[in-house]
Amino acid sequence: MTSYHLPVMAETVVKLFSHCPNGCIVDATVGTGGHAEAILLSNDSIHVVGIDRDSSVLELCRVRLERFGNRIKLIQGRFSQIERLLGEIGVGSSQAAGILLDLGLNSLQVDTPGRGFSYMVDGPLDMRMDATQGIAASDLVNEATEDELVELFRANGEYQNARRVSRAIIASRPLHSTTQLVDVIDRAVSGSARKRKGHVAKRFFQAMRVYVNEEQAELATVLDASMRLLSDGGYLITISYHSGEDGMIKAFMRYAETGGCQCPPQLPCRCGAVSLGRMVFRGVRKPTRDEIDNNPRAKSAKLRAFERVISATGEREGREL
Ligand SMILES: C[S@@+](CC[C@H](N)C(=O)[O-])C[C@H]1O[C@@H](n2cnc3c(N)ncnc32)[C@H](O)[C@@H]1O
Repeated sequence: MTSYHLPVMAETVVKLFSHCPNGCIVDATVGTGGHAEAILLSNDSIHVVGIDRDSSVLELCRVRLERFGNRIKLIQGRFSQIERLLGEIGVGSSQAAGILLDLGLNSLQVDTPGRGFSYMVDGPLDMRMDATQGIAASDLVNEATEDELVELFRANGEYQNARRVSRAIIASRPLHSTTQLVDVIDRAVSGSARKRKGHVAKRFFQAMRVYVNEEQAELATVLDASMRLLSDGGYLITISYHSGEDGMIKAFMRYAETGGCQCPPQLPCRCGAVSLGRMVFRGVRKPTRDEIDNNPRAKSAKLRAFERVISATGEREGREL
């Protein structure tokens, strides 16, 4: 029997989507289909479009969800292309009842040594979610300058050891495997950093994965597109696993809620900003202790939800943010 990725906070996701208008829910990170299955089981009138850039994960999803027949449609592609991908199957502006972004990696990707995502097992330095496109981590590790590596690691919150590790990487080139890279990082990091929680290589690997997969640009584009795709009352639900992602989502939702209005809150708005909707609740939802015990990968998850509200004043399709 196949063991699938365990969907994080699936009950919360299903409950939130139950407030949306009837129609099509787009799971833009469908993975092996855990959330999609829970959503399809929750209501017979829901259709799901699942998108994932990783064809091997999508194959398992196809097998898992085939019993739902034409209520599920799977598409391989990047979620930054979501408008084009949905347009090709006839889902246009203001036609999605909900959009789910469960970011990061699928357990299958992490647990397959040949993908090179894990600092716990030996594998090639790849880290691409779609192994047919873009540069691999080995290109980055073996070709970037010291300053480029330092900037990359610092941007991912690794300040203390960015320079030392970058120098060590350059001195040890060429590097071909995850084990070699972990070894270099391990020898380069200072004593105090070792006392931090988590593996010494964790943030370095994460920084490389985010770069290789252009995760920040992907996220910025899909957030923006979601406002044009959602119907009135439709929900955008996001689940993120590190502070960089969550910070982007939080800033986006705040901006979308106010429309960028800078007017003093005690006075009526005079700047003409148009709100695109409202946050469904303030702050984030997190998994329960029980869920984390059952699925330790859920530990850092933060869920946010935004309701698209299309104003009666004629604003129909959202504007560029
Ligand atoms: C955390 S997993 C989703 C798991 C899924 N919710 C489930 O229940 O099985 C994230 C998935 O998003 C996919 N993904 C990440 N970035 C993507 C992007 N820019 N475009 C499309 N898929 C992406 C990954 O390949 C991975 O399968």
